[in-house]
Amino acid sequence: KDITPIKEKYQNDFLIGNAITSSDLEGARLELLKMHHNVVTAENAMKPSELQPTKGNFTFSGADLLVDKALAEGFDVFGHVLVWHQQSPDWMNTTTNAAGERVPLNREEALKNMQDHIKKVMEHFGDRVIGWDVVNEAMSNNPPNPTDWKASLRQSNWYHAIGPDYVEESYLAARKVLDDNGWDHIKLYYNDYNDDNQNKATAIYHMIKEINDRYAAENDGRLLIDGMGMQGHYNLSTNHENVRKSLERFITLGVEVSITELDIQAGGNHEQSERDRVAQALLYAQLFNLYKEHADSIARVTFWGLNDATSWRAATSPLLFDRNLQAKLAYEAVMDPV
Ligand code: XIL
Repeated sequence: KDITPIKEKYQNDFLIGNAITSSDLEGARLELLKMHHNVVTAENAMKPSELQPTKGNFTFSGADLLVDKALAEGFDVFGHVLVWHQQSPDWMNTTTNAAGERVPLNREEALKNMQDHIKKVMEHFGDRVIGWDVVNEAMSNNPPNPTDWKASLRQSNWYHAIGPDYVEESYLAARKVLDDNGWDHIKLYYNDYNDDNQNKATAIYHMIKEINDRYAAENDGRLLIDGMGMQGHYNLSTNHENVRKSLERFITLGVEVSITELDIQAGGNHEQSERDRVAQALLYAQLFNLYKEHADSIARVTFWGLNDATSWRAATSPLLFDRNLQAKLAYEAVMDPV
């Protein structure tokens, strides 16, 4: 079978990325990764719990190895993630009360922890990365009123400790690092899933719009949030027309959009019927048609894993390459979506 690199097929459209662990940078996995992709995201290595497990003790060695090896192999690196409610250490935004219960930390301390983490991590990786997921998954999945984004925020530890402005404060801290160091080319992203859900997409839209409008008014029209990351963890009930509506809504914000964690669950038990294989390929084709149509606004399309065996959702065979690193029908669909 003729295997054309995905990154070649889309070279005039957007970068093609993948999520990596250290084993993806060796042997046959590295070969496949390199053939098809030009940018990588650390699947776990740059998360807060990895980088600052206890207060003030930064553990950069694992992430440094990964990043430097990826750069040496010719990949761009995208930074993931600075402020999140998962894979983040408890000390950042909670404390133990007299009764021994975990309660939110006071605003001042939590804000300082957040700002310190952002500054230290961003300055450490510097311009080895092309951008950052600054805030991840801040929005709830069922916004009570999508136009009221503050009331729609996830009730996370960050939210409870700091309040709804933790989102804006994160970007202000990250922007300051870029300004202080002259790293204008590094993009600051907001990243979230269920991006095809119109209520959630609407709430996110209003959040970015309000934060960016306020900043622009005081900063000569500059953006505070540069990009919207649609994670794209889809399944066979995802309707690509909903993905279209969200994508087109985000584009009207004037930010760049990237697809940051694409996979499509199809099947279970590490098995995929012919029917699921075909349905999965069809949805990949519909999505890449859509992405190509909006290539002017899309910077990057990143898959969340190289092959089905090592996916975080391995049981549902969500990727383009199978257990033996062989291209699936989904790969053919991405390469010939029309
Ligand atoms: C996932 C990783 O793939 C898993 O290995 C880990 O156990 C949990 O996190 N949204 C994100 C990613 O932003 O960081 C998550 O990655 C998947 C959902």
